[in-house]
Amino acid sequence: MARSYCEPYSPPASPRGAVKCSAKDAHGVIQYRHEWHDLEVTIFKRDRQYEMAMIHHSIVMTSEVFGEEFLPEPVVQRNEQLRNIEQCLHPAAWRRKPLHVWLFGSSGSGKTLVARHVLHRWGKEHVVNTAYVSCWEHNTLYKVVEALVDALKILMAEQQRTSFKLDRIRRYIAGTPLVLVLDEIDEAFPRDRSAILRGLCDLGKVGLLCISRSKDTFYCLPPNVRTRLSPQVVEFPRYPVHALARILQDRADAGLTDGSWTSAVLGKIVDLSAGDARVAIQTLRSAAELAEGEKSPNIRISHIEKAWHGVNTTPKECVLSILTDDHRMLYQVVKENGGVTSGELHRLYEEKCRAIRRKPIAVRTFSNYANRLALSGLITCERARMRGKVRLFKIA
Ligand SMILES: Nc1ncnc2c1ncn2[C@@H]1O[C@H](COP(=O)(O)OP(=O)(O)O)[C@@H](O)[C@H]1O
Ligand SMILES: [Mg+2]
Repeated sequence: MARSYCEPYSPPASPRGAVKCSAKDAHGVIQYRHEWHDLEVTIFKRDRQYEMAMIHHSIVMTSEVFGEEFLPEPVVQRNEQLRNIEQCLHPAAWRRKPLHVWLFGSSGSGKTLVARHVLHRWGKEHVVNTAYVSCWEHNTLYKVVEALVDALKILMAEQQRTSFKLDRIRRYIAGTPLVLVLDEIDEAFPRDRSAILRGLCDLGKVGLLCISRSKDTFYCLPPNVRTRLSPQVVEFPRYPVHALARILQDRADAGLTDGSWTSAVLGKIVDLSAGDARVAIQTLRSAAELAEGEKSPNIRISHIEKAWHGVNTTPKECVLSILTDDHRMLYQVVKENGGVTSGELHRLYEEKCRAIRRKPIAVRTFSNYANRLALSGLITCERARMRGKVRLFKIA
């Protein structure tokens, strides 16, 4: 016998043993089911965060949904990519080595999200090992292998040598395949990138999901690494307007209180975001916080404009703040001079170092640092219109 009990404003304490059986809906209501003698009782209980948001007239109800860790369901407009990746991993379901996959697309096109979804699903539905490593943080083979040993909780791999650790991983995955995401592989320097891929792609039953912003990262790999890897390439195009609108509406439904936003407000964000879901979501979050800070009952276009400015000016400073002083000096030289060739950049940088009595970095490191600035989107790098291998750097 089933009975329903619904009293959203003064909910009963959920009885002990009640099982949560739905996610929070647009009104902050969660459904619980409880078996009590021969009765099956369904309780609808308002989420505490929702109630607090109502009491304090806040706009942001659940801030977690705006974080990068949040795993939204469904993943909008990415069925084809999900299907292609899962096809490549299919052999792992039969304990065979999966195919490698190369995911590429501009920032905010859902690459990391899709890869995390795949790991989540495969970890639950199949007997496979799964791991995620960000090459922004772990940018050498040594660091990636260390992170992998940690993620897989492989014991007895304390020895420092990378070859020893690789051997332990190989033995660990001999029976159960490994699906490994190497996110932001373009953040590793070319030489390290090749070493990481070369070291991992032949490691027994491993399927790599490599993620980069540009397809060129793959094509610029040395031929021996490229052919060893031979991945299936999956493109993530920028989101069209209707898809971005849907992504944004799902977040607003899940994270903001009813009546605090309108479709015109979301439309304005979609127009500004140029197909980048990250920019759209962060603009919405900032606008909501700004509106709440002003004690406005809802988000207005003026909040969006202010938020948009913030979202689009902070990343450069953020990225610079986590780089070294030499990166910042190189960036400063490019900024001060508009466009500089590689030779000029080096000369002007050395002049700056001399002026402050600082030891300049070596030439090889200089070239790596300039590449890092370009990969981080702080400067652009193109071939200069002159003879030889001269590059021209400009502010991005
Ligand atoms: N298809 C989608 N559906 C829902 N949210 C998305 C989608 N694509 C991206 N997002 C969200 O946009 C943000 C950036 O996505 P992410 O996968 O990190 O982008 P990328 O790795 O391509 O730079 C994340 O908050 C993510 O949850
Ligand atoms: Mg990403």
